[in-house]
Amino acid sequence: MAAMGRISARIGAVAESATLAIDAKAKAMKAAGEDVVGFGAGEPDFPTPAHIVEAAAAACRDPRNHRYGPVAGMPELRAAIAAKTARDSGLQVKANQVLVTNGGKHAIYNALATLLDPGDEVLVPAPYWTTYPEAIALAGGVPVVVATDQSTGYRATIDQLEAARTPRTKVLLFVSPSNPTGAVYPRDQVEALGRWALEHGLWVLTDEIYEHLVYGEATAHSMPVVVPDLADRCVVVNGVAKTYAMTGWRVGWIVGPADVVAGATNLQSHQTSNVAAVSQQAALAAVSGPLDDVAAMRDVYDGRRRRIVELLRAIPGIECPEPEGAFYVFPSVKGVLGRDVAGRTPASSLDLAAVVLEEAKVAVVPGEAFGAPGYFRLSYALGDDDLVEGVTRLAKLLAG
Ligand SMILES: Cc1ncc(COP(=O)(O)O)c(C=O)c1O
Repeated sequence: MAAMGRISARIGAVAESATLAIDAKAKAMKAAGEDVVGFGAGEPDFPTPAHIVEAAAAACRDPRNHRYGPVAGMPELRAAIAAKTARDSGLQVKANQVLVTNGGKHAIYNALATLLDPGDEVLVPAPYWTTYPEAIALAGGVPVVVATDQSTGYRATIDQLEAARTPRTKVLLFVSPSNPTGAVYPRDQVEALGRWALEHGLWVLTDEIYEHLVYGEATAHSMPVVVPDLADRCVVVNGVAKTYAMTGWRVGWIVGPADVVAGATNLQSHQTSNVAAVSQQAALAAVSGPLDDVAAMRDVYDGRRRRIVELLRAIPGIECPEPEGAFYVFPSVKGVLGRDVAGRTPASSLDLAAVVLEEAKVAVVPGEAFGAPGYFRLSYALGDDDLVEGVTRLAKLLAG
């Protein structure tokens, strides 16, 4: 009889989050006194807006926030999320269609665990956010990666999705604006994908966490708004982390059909219970407050976006499309691979990222983490001086 493993096969198969690992390595190098510029984490460099912090500070002093609360979230917050959803995307939902989770990541896992039976397939357009395939597998599903490239602006087409669809396909994972490419789907494409999903009886898990971070002419369109008939088979994921510079507070949510939300709430009742009450109070202040701070941060990101694209395009061997949303650039580094870099010959973006971190003290995430070898992801949610310093170091290193 085969010996039983010390850890389960299910958990043994999970890869560490590459983005968090790189961020941790960069932060450890910084703590050890090294001068590292970190483009790794998808984390705003701004502090959380003051009125949100004040609401949390007041909440700390109120003993009602020292207790367990309803698993699905404070009723005021669920209602405020429903109102915010109507305000920002136009989707009309009731408070019982909202489940407050420990961040968007938790929302994604709980939604998948609620929808998937073992072997159910989920279509995941690549380059994908690194957590999606792992969360699908943990939930018992099978990620089916659908490769997209620059020729379609990293937007999945119906033909590509159709080629990957099987009788076991249950869910399409959709994200716009996208991490890692910054791609934003125009309305007609959102509509086409939504209609296609509806026609084939698929569910859509749509991740709207970057809804406010769009630039130029781009607009984020919510699939169940564009295709209202899909609403009964659509789960929206969102959260405060990116919009309000609140990554550390850990508040996200699911908005979806009441039966799915009830199922996910039962799961959460045995898993984490309610999200920390003080964080919920902070999220309440965020989603029910004005969007001025959000607009101001978006303007700053927009300036950095243009700057980083311009600087990267000036580096021989790097090709950098202009992203339309989120706060990432996703340049190709294929033109650099196989060349001499600081006496080494990196053959993959994974190798190159390691050389860049060691030699230039610049942390980037290699495309391998997103199912797209040959690319780097750089977050431009960092200070302007760091941004210029980091890309300048990269340019110097690659110039030899
Ligand atoms: C596409 C996408 N969805 C969801 C999340 C989850 O964010 P959080 O768990 O911090 O709310 C992230 C964070 O990087 C993301 O990039």
